[in-house]
Amino acid sequence: MGRLPIRIDYSLAMHPGTSAPGGLDERELDACASRFTEALDATLHDVRRGALGFWGLGGDPTIADAIDAVVAKLPAVDDVMVLGIGGSSLGGRSILEALRGPTGLGLPITPGPRVHFPDNSDPFVLRALFEHLRPERTLVVAISKSGGTVETAAALLLARAFLRDALGEKGMRERLVIITDPESGPLRDLAWRESLASLPVPKNVGGRFSVLTAVGLLPAALAGVDVRALLRGADAMRAACETRDLRKNPAGLFAALHVLHHERHGRGIHVLMPYADALRPFATWFVQLWAESLGKRVDLGGNVVERGPTPIPAVGATDQHAQVQLFMEGPRDKLITFIAVDEPAGDLAIPHEQGVFDDLGGLTMAGLLDAERRGTALALARDGRPSLTLHVPRIDAFSLGSLFFFFEAATAFAGRLYGVDAFGQPGVELGKRLASALLGRAGFESEREMVRETESNRNESHVLE
Ligand code: PA5
Repeated sequence: MGRLPIRIDYSLAMHPGTSAPGGLDERELDACASRFTEALDATLHDVRRGALGFWGLGGDPTIADAIDAVVAKLPAVDDVMVLGIGGSSLGGRSILEALRGPTGLGLPITPGPRVHFPDNSDPFVLRALFEHLRPERTLVVAISKSGGTVETAAALLLARAFLRDALGEKGMRERLVIITDPESGPLRDLAWRESLASLPVPKNVGGRFSVLTAVGLLPAALAGVDVRALLRGADAMRAACETRDLRKNPAGLFAALHVLHHERHGRGIHVLMPYADALRPFATWFVQLWAESLGKRVDLGGNVVERGPTPIPAVGATDQHAQVQLFMEGPRDKLITFIAVDEPAGDLAIPHEQGVFDDLGGLTMAGLLDAERRGTALALARDGRPSLTLHVPRIDAFSLGSLFFFFEAATAFAGRLYGVDAFGQPGVELGKRLASALLGRAGFESEREMVRETESNRNESHVLE
């Protein structure tokens, strides 16, 4: 096997990398080897029986071809609104921000259309977009695997009205793309009924594992990202993640370290802290993947276990001035993963200025950032607080594709090691159904009763006004 697309330094997650007894014992990790091969075998069995579609996406050339075919027929635009939430938004946003520059700054960083991800039902962002975008130069991409997510459906109705009011029914349909289940659901029906441009989310790819389908790749392609390089990166990582040797399997190692630190040492808070602004949304994507996949009431045998780690996003060096105080001195319940970018693009040399911060002149900003990361990891280690570091050579489409697959495979393995089903999300259903009842939507009569019952049990004197 050749070199891995990313390098994992886990020396500070092990004893004696951490000076106080904070690290894992070599024997603890080795003892997990057979548990891991069972997890790997079970995962690959699920892959072979067609249940885990995300595993083979990187090696499927038809995905990029289908995207190209749709993109070729779309009108030229200045802005793209991607309507979706959760797994139907976070992956695309991570790609765009990593490879096309931070959206929050309002800077025209790269050519090509601006891509917006108004994922929330809060009218704040949507209203601003409708006020500022020109309908004739705007494309709307509505993404929902189920096709019925209420937040996305509501935003789509608003976007359709925005386009239709200015351009008529035909103009609206020409500027609308649907990404949803290939065969069923309300959005699929709409795409068929109105002959809208559309792409599928394969049935066997779950929402939060769908970034390397059209869900993440169409927004990326519209912004000029090399989607084939993303897929190649994922495929290179897939090959590495099929290795049976735990110490050589990157995702297996990551999963085992996290599960063991949690089970044996109570470190159930898992922080992902890239030292790169470009990876801020990526850390949020990871949080959704890790939390929604691994936080489960029952185990694979149906026993109530209420299990799961708590992931936290952070970014260096910014969070050294926000969360690192807690990581350094608070409860010893965390395992921190840093991401380092070994060859940062566009470094800045810090100028010399006589008598003003003399010792900084001649250093570089990337050098400063790297020293901050290493200093933080070593400071944590000196107090027995473990961490690991993922080194990516640079932030490009290939590395990003590798990172996506790495975390997805790690999540599948961690699900097996924790003994939970990583691919459902039963816990979010009830809240959605109660919200529908509160909105008075049809078909939620028993949920309305649950709302009434729970509301009536509340003690109004516990409201401070
Ligand atoms: O991972 C998941 O399945 C969820 O986070 C979904 O992505 C999210 O709920 C959105 O669902 P949908 O794509 O069906 O609109």
